[in-house]
This record gives sequence, C-alpha cells and structure tokens, in this order.
Amino acid sequence: MNFSEDIQVRVVESDEGEALMQFLLEHYYREEPLTAGCSPPEPEQADKDFLLSNIPHGTCLVVVQGGSRIVGALVAGPKDAHEAEHLAEEVVEHSGTKWGRILGLLARVERETNVCKRYGVPSTIHVHALGIDPRLRGLGLGARLMSAVAERARALGHPLVTVDCTSLYSAGLMARLGYELINTIRYDEYLDEFGQQVFRPPAPHDSVKTYVLRL
Ligand code: ACO
Repeated sequence: MNFSEDIQVRVVESDEGEALMQFLLEHYYREEPLTAGCSPPEPEQADKDFLLSNIPHGTCLVVVQGGSRIVGALVAGPKDAHEAEHLAEEVVEHSGTKWGRILGLLARVERETNVCKRYGVPSTIHVHALGIDPRLRGLGLGARLMSAVAERARALGHPLVTVDCTSLYSAGLMARLGYELINTIRYDEYLDEFGQQVFRPPAPHDSVKTYVLRL
C-alpha cells in the first residue's frame, strides 16, 4: 500500500474530542506561535474547550493514517457579522489570563478585517487551528485539510473560508493555495498598555496574517 492510499481525511465524530485534543496538545499547541509565544506554555482549559466546542458544527477534520492514527487536524467553525462584538465580550470575560491575551489579539484582527461586512456575506467558516504531525509535514496534508474544509463550507452554504495564520508556515500554505491576504499584524507592534510586546513567538514567526478564500 502506498502512502496516499494509507491516508484518509474525514470529519471528526462527536465522540472523538479526547483523541482530537490529545493530537492538538502534542502537535499543534506546542508550536502554535501565540500559545508558544506567551507564558505559561500550556493552553488554558477555556482555550481547549473552545476548540472542542466546534466539533458539533461538522467542520472539524482529521487526517488519519492506517485507519486510526491521527496525523493531522483542522478545527473550524462558523462566524457571522457579530463576531467582533462577541469577541469583545469574551476578552472581558477572560481578562487577565493567557486565553484572554490570545482573544485580545484575535479581537483586534476581527475589528481590522471585519470579513462578513467586507465581503458582504452573512457568514464564513473560520479555521481556528491547523496542525500536522512533524514527521509528515511538507507532504501536502495541510493543503488536503484546507481543501476538505472548503468543501464542507461549500456544502453547508457558507460563501467564504477565512483563517488567521499565526505561523509563517500556515501563511505560506494559504498563499500557495491562492487565498487572498487581507490583513497583517506584526507581533513586535502589538503592545500592551505598558508598551510591552504581548507575544514573543520563536523565529521565524513574525506576524498574524488573515487569509480569505471565496467559494
Ligand atoms: N517547522 C519547520 N518546517 C516546517 C513546518 C514547521 N512547523 N511546517 C512546515 N514546514 C516545512 C515543510 O517541511 C515543507 O518543507 P519542504 O518544502 O522542504 O518539504 C515546507 O515547510 C512547506 O510545508 P507545508 O506542506 O506547507 O506544511 P504542512 O501543511 O505539512 O504543515 C502546518 C503546515 C500545519 C502549519 C505545520 O507547520 C504545523 O503543524 N505547525 C504547528 C502548529 C501551527 O503553528 N499551526 C498553524 C497556526 S495558524 C492556524 O492554526 C490557523
């Protein structure tokens, strides 16, 4: 059996939350630049709960090798024109925590991009997380997950797929897939009220870039 025959991309089932989170803890959160770029290094429970809350939408996907081993994952869910207000409320609720700092940056991204209004659409499927097992990176699995989520979004009637790429690698992937770059916030220009840089991810990550695909 060759490599591609052994690989399957499929929607995450409702009882797979634990396996999905196990994969994300090992191969997504440890490297994801916002999580890695501010202390403590571990993601907070509210962050993990938020990712898992997307499973019922049917827009979370995994790459499975050999029938059962998760080697890639994508977490996505719908958002609408009220996302900026929703995020502003979440920032207040989680203020003073690591998740609150992450939400603060994502809320600024949302204010600057305002994708539903900008594109005149009621909703988008937004990709919140993308991770591939490091042993299988560079083999097109991230691209397969992105094309599968675009298919799901189309089937569910959403006119756009959007993604805030916190990593240079995910940004490179979206650019290669033909996504439109609509916003960039540099980490060294995103400061707190004391003028201190909030996120200090390791090189080569320098910014969060928002990309959009029209379906
Ligand atoms: N570190 C070093 N090199 C990498 C990394 C990485 N994190 N990711 C990809 N590369 C390399 C690949 O090996 C490949 O090299 P090659 O051209 O020499 O073969 C090249 O970059 C292009 O790789 P892609 O095929 O675009 O990468 P892939 O789709 O396999 O993985 C991904 C991209 C999913 C972003 C991966 O880097 C990853 O899992 N990162 C950790 C979690 C993370 O930061 N996710 C993105 C956050 S943004 C968001 O989730 C919306």
